[in-house]
Amino acid sequence: MAIHSARIAAPQVDEFARDVARGLALTPKRLPSKYFYDAEGSRLFEAICGQPEYYLTRAELALMQTHVADMAAQLGAGVRLVEYGSGAGIKTRLLLSHLHSPAGYVPVEISAPALQASVAAITAELPQLPVRPVCADFTRPHALPDLPVISTRTVIYFPGSTLGNFEPDEAVVLLRQMRAEMGAAGAALIGIDLDKDRAILEAAYNDAAGVTAAFTLNLLVRINRELEGDFDLAQFAHRAQYNAMAGRIETAIISRCVQDVVVAGTRYHFAQGEAMAVEISSKYRLDRFDRMAARAGLAVRRCWTDPSRAFAVLLLEPVRV
Ligand code: AVJ
Repeated sequence: MAIHSARIAAPQVDEFARDVARGLALTPKRLPSKYFYDAEGSRLFEAICGQPEYYLTRAELALMQTHVADMAAQLGAGVRLVEYGSGAGIKTRLLLSHLHSPAGYVPVEISAPALQASVAAITAELPQLPVRPVCADFTRPHALPDLPVISTRTVIYFPGSTLGNFEPDEAVVLLRQMRAEMGAAGAALIGIDLDKDRAILEAAYNDAAGVTAAFTLNLLVRINRELEGDFDLAQFAHRAQYNAMAGRIETAIISRCVQDVVVAGTRYHFAQGEAMAVEISSKYRLDRFDRMAARAGLAVRRCWTDPSRAFAVLLLEPVRV
């Protein structure tokens, strides 16, 4: 049997309450984007990926389809593939099905239902592949489970430009954690969105159908439901702007009026037009990414891009010291 643990336990829920209380007390207010992904948030994110303006998913899939055989050859035989934030979507299945005799697949995902679904999808397509899910926040140290076969190397797969949702210093911390987890023989395969024209970027995060706006505001719906909040959804708006200096899209929730909101028994004041920061989506330049990787003891060994150079997948390996 390929699957060991049928039951997947979710990590602490109090952390959400603590992070929201902390973030609402800050000036300016800010909430961590990792809380977007409840069941509805995950559904809305999938819908974003299908919007005509959101080029990222299509560009990454196109480049994977073109280069997956080369990627698999670079990674070699007997890989233990660890995915951070298992989408376990089509890209993961594409990669796994091209790996040479993979030792197994370890999705690390905080949402238990999402993890269950991804394990089911992978097992249906690759019934011989050992799968060992880990229900955890991938930004925290987590123990990796053993596989029935000894792997030659650990490869961390981190697609979708999720790295871009971290502040530069946090991204370096995460890359360092990956380096420790992969060991001296390991590698990381990371998808990053590349810097480009403001109009293209702002359209991608302000789709005409309003799916991204619904995705952003769903964070308030989640706070209302899980933390007894009373956010009036009609009095808040989604805003996503390109910050050219920082090379990133900055998403905020804007208060449409002067108002007070109560969350978990505590009252918070919002001025009219006040912006609460909820997400950054960094857009990288290939000539600068080397330096960030180097700060984490990693070197860029290979770089694959789509024909329009919108998106890149990088192979990172530890630098020998
Ligand atoms: C795939 C999680 C990186 O930042 O582009 C999409 C999330 N936010 N639209 C991104 C997202 C708004 C997405 N990530």
